[in-house]
Amino acid sequence: MRVGLRVNGTFHEVDVEPRALLVHVLRGLGYRSVRVGCDTATCGACTVLIDGRPAKSCNLLAVQVDGAEIVTAEHADGLLERLRKSFNAHHAAQCGYCTSGMLMAAYALLSRRERPSEDEVREHMAGVLCRCTGYQNIVRAVVEA
Ligand code: FES
Ligand code: FES
Repeated sequence: MRVGLRVNGTFHEVDVEPRALLVHVLRGLGYRSVRVGCDTATCGACTVLIDGRPAKSCNLLAVQVDGAEIVTAEHADGLLERLRKSFNAHHAAQCGYCTSGMLMAAYALLSRRERPSEDEVREHMAGVLCRCTGYQNIVRAVVEA
């Protein structure tokens, strides 16, 4: 099936198997920040924004999001750049496997709420798991950004 996806502002038209997961299609297009952590909609490493809302791309078929606007951690954007810098400054990545998902969840939150409290950040980020358990620094980085 042919689907059209606008990713970080660039339009792609791709032929996909009806069963192809969005995470695999995005990685195939070169968006390697999108990670497969569990493949069971548990860890959030594959989180991207779909039409402005965070979603686990391992839990969606590419055909389900035909025509969608998708944002990944590669996106060139001032807010995302601020988050990346804050993650660096606060050592918010250890192995880094969860980092793209964390950035996307944080980006979604800060896009609609300028100064969330620490509790709001924790609640909003709960869908992304860090196996290195580096949550303190991640939360600090988001609050600071
Ligand atoms: S890979 Fe999608 S939630 Fe873990
Ligand atoms: S930094 Fe390793 S999983 Fe989060």
